[in-house]
Amino acid sequence: MRPLALSDAPAIQRHFNNWNIIRNLASVVPWPYPDDGAESFIRIQLEKITAGEELYHWVLVLRAGDGEAIGNIHFRPSADSPKGNRGFWLAEPYWSRGLMTEAISAVNDFAFNTLAIEQFYVCNVASNEASRRVKQKTGAEFVGYIELAHHNGQSKSEKWRVTRENWLRLAPSRSETDVNRQ
Ligand SMILES: CC(C)(COP(=O)(O)OP(=O)(O)OC[C@H]1O[C@@H](n2cnc3c(N)ncnc32)[C@H](O)[C@@H]1OP(=O)(O)O)[C@@H](O)C(=O)NCCC(=O)NCCS
Repeated sequence: MRPLALSDAPAIQRHFNNWNIIRNLASVVPWPYPDDGAESFIRIQLEKITAGEELYHWVLVLRAGDGEAIGNIHFRPSADSPKGNRGFWLAEPYWSRGLMTEAISAVNDFAFNTLAIEQFYVCNVASNEASRRVKQKTGAEFVGYIELAHHNGQSKSEKWRVTRENWLRLAPSRSETDVNRQ
């Protein structure tokens, strides 16, 4: 993983512009995805970070090859948003290999070992089994249902709490990982 950069725009545009990804996301994401969608998104996110907002953005990159971005995770530890504090997506060719679970474990380490926060919240549309599994495998506890409109037409969403206590119990021997700090 490394911090998001403007040079990631072409790879993100190619991988993210996919209904199988978008249908699982909240309706605020533009669809049909504009030709400059990734570049505009990255510019806005980097401006927020430069302006001092507490916002972290990483891309997942393959170790082999050209290291192009194949996914994105954002983390806003102190945001009070119905969408929760963290979001993620991965390019479809790489699904179900454990990659997002590995990446989210690194983000949890960053949150609880480096930032030393106590807890944060995450959400997914209730039909999103893969996202639910990632949360279950990385120590999230189910809190209840909330209403949040998603592109697939559903609004029933699951809300989860991720706590320092649960994470350290699940991963007691983990030290800081290779999440690049911003
Ligand atoms: C959610 C997402 C990031 C998961 O990434 P990933 O790297 O494939 O996740 P992992 O491989 O670490 O774990 C996925 C788990 O879900 C399981 N899974 C995948 N599809 C599933 C399905 N339809 N039903 C049940 N389980 C499913 C996998 O088997 C795996 O669990 P396991 O390790 O117990 O076998 C990826 O599917 C994605 O980008 N989806 C579209 C965007 C999205 O939904 N983002 C999240 C919004 S909240």
